[in-house]
Amino acid sequence: MEPLIRVENLHKIYNPGENEVRALDGVSLTIEKGEFVAIVGHSGSGKSTLMNMLGCLDTPTSGHYYLNGRDVSGLTDNQLSEIRNQEIGFIFQGFNLIPNLDAIGNVELPLIYRGVSKQTRRRLATAALTKVGLGKRMKHRPGELSGGQQQRVAVARAIAAQPPVILADEPTGNLDSRSTVEIMNILKELHKSGRTVIVITHDDDIARQSRRVIRISDGRVEADYLNGES
Ligand SMILES: Nc1ncnc2c1ncn2[C@@H]1O[C@H](COP(=O)(O)OP(=O)(O)OP(=O)(O)O)[C@@H](O)[C@H]1O
Ligand SMILES: [Mg+2]
Repeated sequence: MEPLIRVENLHKIYNPGENEVRALDGVSLTIEKGEFVAIVGHSGSGKSTLMNMLGCLDTPTSGHYYLNGRDVSGLTDNQLSEIRNQEIGFIFQGFNLIPNLDAIGNVELPLIYRGVSKQTRRRLATAALTKVGLGKRMKHRPGELSGGQQQRVAVARAIAAQPPVILADEPTGNLDSRSTVEIMNILKELHKSGRTVIVITHDDDIARQSRRVIRISDGRVEADYLNGES
């Protein structure tokens, strides 16, 4: 069966020419449906660049990316945004919530883009916020929530539409240790319920909690291994 994600010889070159940066320098990998993967590496190794490719936020300079069997490497911006909407839930280090929308408004936003009816939006957003333990904070705006709670709103936003892939770039980078544990527990729960979770991090502790670790160095896959069964 076709893997969920198949990347072949991906290159991303910023500023081609004299000052070029080979942010991705021939990355090939596959990720199966239902995996929990940590992508790790030092600062500048190419993690976010790879996340941008996997998340259809940017296109590679060369190489191919098959998502669910479809080659998405050469699609237009509009086609990519359609795929992002349908296939991927994003979680970012900086939460990226809309400050003047309350929690439920933030979670509903991507559902609006998906054309989900108002009633269904409410239901899905309420379920997602309840799942992350924020059933009693739905009317709070981001400024009225702690960092950990804001990130939980962002997780609810990512999962509300039940996308097949959850992509998180340093999701705990701005959180204290307790909120980090909370967010990791939610991600593990999602994995247990069958979601594919990809976490980009330079936190070795998070890597140790992931079933599979892909280590990036200078834009290449340096190691790709499984942690022991727990
Ligand atoms: N838009 C851009 N234009 C030019 N160079 C870029 C751009 N984005 C990233 N780079 C360069 O590409 C390389 C990889 O950057 P990337 O952001 O993917 O690293 P990272 O592994 O996510 O690092 P960090 O852990 O600091 O977030 C770096 O050398 C960076 O300077
Ligand atoms: Mg980064």
